[in-house]
Amino acid sequence: MYGLGSNSSINLNMASSNIFLLIPFIALVATQAMASDPSPLQDFCVADKNSPVRVNGFPCKDAKDVSVDDFFLAANLDKPMDTTKSKAGSNVTLINVMKLAGLNTLGISMARIDYAPKGQNPPHTHPRATEILTVIEGSLYVGFVTSNQANGENKLFTKTLNKGDVFVFPEGLIQFQFNPSYDKPAAAIVALSSQNPGTITIANAVFGSNPPISDDVLAKAFQVDKKALYKKHRPLLVHKQKFHQLNMASSNFFLLTALIALVATQAMASDPSPLQDFCVADRNSPVRVNGFPCKDAKDVNVDDFFLAANLDKPMDTTKSKAGSNVTLINVMKLAGLNTLGISMARIDYAPKGQNPPHTHPRATEILTVLEGTLYVGFVTSNQANGENKLFTKTLNKGDVFVFPQGLIHFQFNPSYDKPAVAIAALSSQNPGASTIANAVFGSNPPISDDVLAKAFQVDKKAVDWLQAQFWENNHN
Ligand SMILES: *[C@@H]1O[C@H](CO)[C@@H](O)[C@H](O)[C@H]1NC(C)=O
Ligand SMILES: *[C@@H]1O[C@H](CO)[C@@H](O)[C@H](O)[C@H]1NC(C)=O
Repeated sequence: MYGLGSNSSINLNMASSNIFLLIPFIALVATQAMASDPSPLQDFCVADKNSPVRVNGFPCKDAKDVSVDDFFLAANLDKPMDTTKSKAGSNVTLINVMKLAGLNTLGISMARIDYAPKGQNPPHTHPRATEILTVIEGSLYVGFVTSNQANGENKLFTKTLNKGDVFVFPEGLIQFQFNPSYDKPAAAIVALSSQNPGTITIANAVFGSNPPISDDVLAKAFQVDKKALYKKHRPLLVHKQKFHQLNMASSNFFLLTALIALVATQAMASDPSPLQDFCVADRNSPVRVNGFPCKDAKDVNVDDFFLAANLDKPMDTTKSKAGSNVTLINVMKLAGLNTLGISMARIDYAPKGQNPPHTHPRATEILTVLEGTLYVGFVTSNQANGENKLFTKTLNKGDVFVFPQGLIHFQFNPSYDKPAVAIAALSSQNPGASTIANAVFGSNPPISDDVLAKAFQVDKKAVDWLQAQFWENNHN
């Protein structure tokens, strides 16, 4: 019988037994952690975008008016977007709290990025988010640059990514993606560790600000002649260009951004905020901390942020009784995720397969369907009226859905003959998974049948029967 202990260990591939000692410690200190997005203080707080009240993020809609469609968007993330109108040759479709109100307070968002041949997502930063990316088509040459180091250096890390590879861009660092192909487009699905990650495109912010930054300032900063800033055909001449990369619909957004920037440092969240550019997990260290100690920065290289994860490949769903296979790329598999508050997974579902009811104790999940159809749902925690409300939705290819942090949720492939596939991202480097049936009826040692018989209002024999079942785990 698989118990909860063996479950979570196999789930998350925790190589060393140190991790078991670590978990209670993490639980103790997690509530004191500071992070970019605030932690939720209720099951959900769907953004009330019409409220005149200004808070960090958005005020909450009255919970009685919340419906499943607040967590759903027919986002068409399966469809290639037009890259011909953009000079950079790319098109970013960001599903943030402005488009999906249910993301409010949940610290995550998702995007599809299309790249024309030779197209790029030009150097930019996300002031409030780490980004995790998987390539779904073509290949990408990607990179990020560290902040100014003590030795005056800004180190560049670059990598060529192929379909199915995963890469991490640490929070706030300048990064880019470039499609090196002369003739093939590329596409990526990314997730960001904020409901509203923000984007600062460097060229635009520096040379295209409104009003312009003084040319005295820029000439000195970039050590060029003032004329270079104006001369035609010079790369720096980008004044007065309009940039609509992120489709920012409302001007409220700009007011909000400023407000969020002011208060974000006071926010509490599930994963701690980074206190340096990156802190690549040193899994061999004997030191125990919240998460992992950092590798010496001088030993860090680009492969610490990269995994040939094969997220483009169908996984075997025939061995799992539930008919699903979860491939989770968390900090145990990708050391660069340490302190960065995000992870990514591919989930394969056999026909009639399911990812059975489970919770992620430390993460909200955002999911997009790559193939097939999914019937999904989550259940609220116990409400004042004694209710646990179920929200369900049928998702098609390209749709996006949010499962709020810690709530019990499931996905089911209703098709008799077609498999389904999803890419999910989770707002923790180590979201954890507790499969309800396994944890309750398959724990090791078993929970007393007296307790369970009363809790579930069934005969003890029914409990004994359930406890005798083999509770397997569908996670890798
Ligand atoms: C992105 O693609 C969509 C749909 O193809 C198009 O409507 C939009 O204008 C494009 N945005 C940019 C910035 O090119
Ligand atoms: C998931 O698929 C992989 C590769 O196809 C396989 O090695 C693994 O055993 C599968 N895991 C489960 C839980 O079925």
